[in-house]
Amino acid sequence: MTENLTTSEQSLINAAKAARENAHAPFSGFRVGAAVRTKSGRIYTGCNVENVSYGLTICAERVAIFKAISEGDRGFDSIAVVTDTDNLTPPCGACRQIIWEFCGEVPVLLSNLNDKVERESSGRLLPRPFDQSFL
Ligand code: THU
Repeated sequence: MTENLTTSEQSLINAAKAARENAHAPFSGFRVGAAVRTKSGRIYTGCNVENVSYGLTICAERVAIFKAISEGDRGFDSIAVVTDTDNLTPPCGACRQIIWEFCGEVPVLLSNLNDKVERESSGRLLPRPFDQSFL
């Protein structure tokens, strides 16, 4: 399914697509780009960064969010993930937890290089999340 996109959603996907070019994925060959938009309209991008130890690999989504957090930005309204697959790539479990922590309920736009797009949501991806409301 390809969704109707707003201009800002399309620009977020384009940013994720561009970030994917910087992926460091020599071990999997699986290149991922992500982009997160702040409520003030700023976009932070990320790509997956693999490591020869494998376990130290970090996903594109977490790179994008951590870049924003480390720059002092908070409050996000959407995130996009781009891979070169027909079967669009959803965030891994670890990234779902991080997305929920910093973004709450937001659209998660999944896309590929052929402009196929699916609009997911962070809440659907992580039902019954553990968050600060339990502390
Ligand atoms: N990866 C991401 O960057 N984001 C995802 O949503 C799924 C997986 C990366 C991690 C690793 O570098 C490669 O894709 C294969 O798992």
